[in-house]
Amino acid sequence: MKLSIATIALATLYMQVSAISAPATSGAPQPATVPNCGYPTVPFFRAWNNATTDHFYTTNKTEMDAFMTQGYMAQGIAAYILPSDTPAPTAVPLFRMYDAKIGDHFYTTNATYRDLLLGQGNYASEGIAGYVYPDQECGTVPLYRLLKYGEAADNFYTTDEEEVKDFIDQLGYDFMEVAAYSQGILSLQQLVSTAANNDAHV
Ligand SMILES: *[C@@H]1O[C@H](CO)[C@@H](O)[C@H](O)[C@H]1NC(C)=O
Ligand SMILES: *[C@@H]1O[C@H](CO)[C@@H](O)[C@H](O)[C@H]1NC(C)=O
Ligand SMILES: *[C@@H]1O[C@H](CO)[C@@H](O)[C@H](O)[C@H]1NC(C)=O
Repeated sequence: MKLSIATIALATLYMQVSAISAPATSGAPQPATVPNCGYPTVPFFRAWNNATTDHFYTTNKTEMDAFMTQGYMAQGIAAYILPSDTPAPTAVPLFRMYDAKIGDHFYTTNATYRDLLLGQGNYASEGIAGYVYPDQECGTVPLYRLLKYGEAADNFYTTDEEEVKDFIDQLGYDFMEVAAYSQGILSLQQLVSTAANNDAHV
């Protein structure tokens, strides 16, 4: 009985995976397909500005469209995060900041670190990007932060572990931290292990 439930769950996941097999860089919004702790999530859109080497993330589609006219290229959806009116009790704000001089958007859940950076006068506060989980729970995945040092530093966020490897090995980024936990664009392997974990807890 348990096995057949797991089998059906896996078959459904395989179908969902083939439906979302387009690369995260396609720019096309994709539907949420992963467990979401029972609270509605919204896409965290990602864009890249090659001239200023800046990765930018927002849940605001109107804002993203405006950035498209300012040298940014859409790179699909980085993760699914919680909107500002989320009822999720354990969610915390993901603060957004921008350093116009080096062209870098920075996101953190750490209010102390945010205040430290704001106090140094380079980054300006841009409010709250959305809500995320400080700990891993109910099918969430790490949102990794990588940094490329230099005059035009770039903070880069992704839930995709292959991308983490590629950015470190090929593009000169350094791994910094798990910035938060969110609903990712999961790999097939992650989906299967999520299903297995969920089944184990039935
Ligand atoms: C990105 O910028 C680099 C350095 O300025 C340049 O060499 C490269 O051609 C640019 N790539 C694209 C896709 O515009
Ligand atoms: C979304 O972005 C647009 C353009 O920047 C802005 O006018 C609008 O107030 C934003 N909406 C929300 C809900 O923040
Ligand atoms: C938050 O940032 C402060 C200042 O950088 C640091 O000392 C502290 O360890 C950080 N807290 C966490 C939970 O990472």
